[in-house]
Amino acid sequence: NRFAPTKAAGTRTVDEVTGSRRLRRMRKAAWSRRLVQENHLTVDDLIWPIFLVDGENVREPIAAMPGVFRMSIDVAIREVERAAKLGIPAIATFPNVDLSLRDVTGSLILDPDNLTNRATRAIKAAVPEIGIITDAALDPFTSHGHDGVLRDGIIVNDETVEQVAAGAVLQAAAGADIIAPSDMMDGRIGVIRSALDDNGFQDVAIMSYATKFDSAFYGPYRDAIGTAGLLKGDKKTYYINAANSAEALRETEQDILEGTDMVMVKPGLPYLDIVRLLKDAFALPTFAYQVSGEYSMIQAAAANGWIDGERAMMESLLAFKRAGADGILTYFAPAVAEKLKG
Ligand code: PBG
Repeated sequence: NRFAPTKAAGTRTVDEVTGSRRLRRMRKAAWSRRLVQENHLTVDDLIWPIFLVDGENVREPIAAMPGVFRMSIDVAIREVERAAKLGIPAIATFPNVDLSLRDVTGSLILDPDNLTNRATRAIKAAVPEIGIITDAALDPFTSHGHDGVLRDGIIVNDETVEQVAAGAVLQAAAGADIIAPSDMMDGRIGVIRSALDDNGFQDVAIMSYATKFDSAFYGPYRDAIGTAGLLKGDKKTYYINAANSAEALRETEQDILEGTDMVMVKPGLPYLDIVRLLKDAFALPTFAYQVSGEYSMIQAAAANGWIDGERAMMESLLAFKRAGADGILTYFAPAVAEKLKG
């Protein structure tokens, strides 16, 4: 050794400073690490978001999301069957509809036979044991990619809510188990709840995207549902400012007062503080969405050999559990379920 410690390092020994408390003691063996592990990820924690497209036997790769595909309903049925066999409790569907079907008001949400509703009916019939969550928002259906009716440069709140609520009733009629309103319009939870109840869907639950932040991490998703090229401007007038957490608390409280059954935080990993905040404040079933950009970052780094993708996947999902999440929407769901099984 060219260098040896000298008294310049200080006079107190490790035992003196720790008082013999040694946290490494329980980390020394695999069995003791297992014994004191506080949080666990199980297949019961997973919700799998899938992308739908019209046609038959279509399995279209999404460039920015390696390993994720836009699937026609027949292919989706087979994949969802596989997910159910792996024990995944629920899926969330997102449609990529033909551009010719999109309009200024997103009126396609009012078609009982739109891609979302056809998929729900078909999947429900083929795989009745899996829960189906439908996205109640206009963005897949508008010609401008915004989550609302756009008039004179403004996203019109109340009109959007009325239309989304009517669309949500159609989703419930098609067999959706959980309606997930994702547009951050004011009053949407209460109006959707009352529309569901008035139409005999008291048992259909609501998972509100209670805190959806204005985020760069949605980029690959917008490519997946084909809104990337359409969207003009940003969503700052309806999504929450990424700098705010008190506002996230107020948003969530409002959704609870209006009758949501569950709440969700989106994006996920950069917002774990919000997950913890909501879980501690409200003790409701609390979910987090590991969004497209988070998925893509892990996949891209792994593809370059910069990180161990599988470890990063498992670690990121465990982090959600540690933060207090009851479940995670993640594009990794089937891969994780496979890994947990093996
Ligand atoms: C909008 C919506 C978004 C996502 C799902 N629904 C955000 C957006 O496009 O603004 C993002 C999901 C993801 O990034 O994985 N209703």
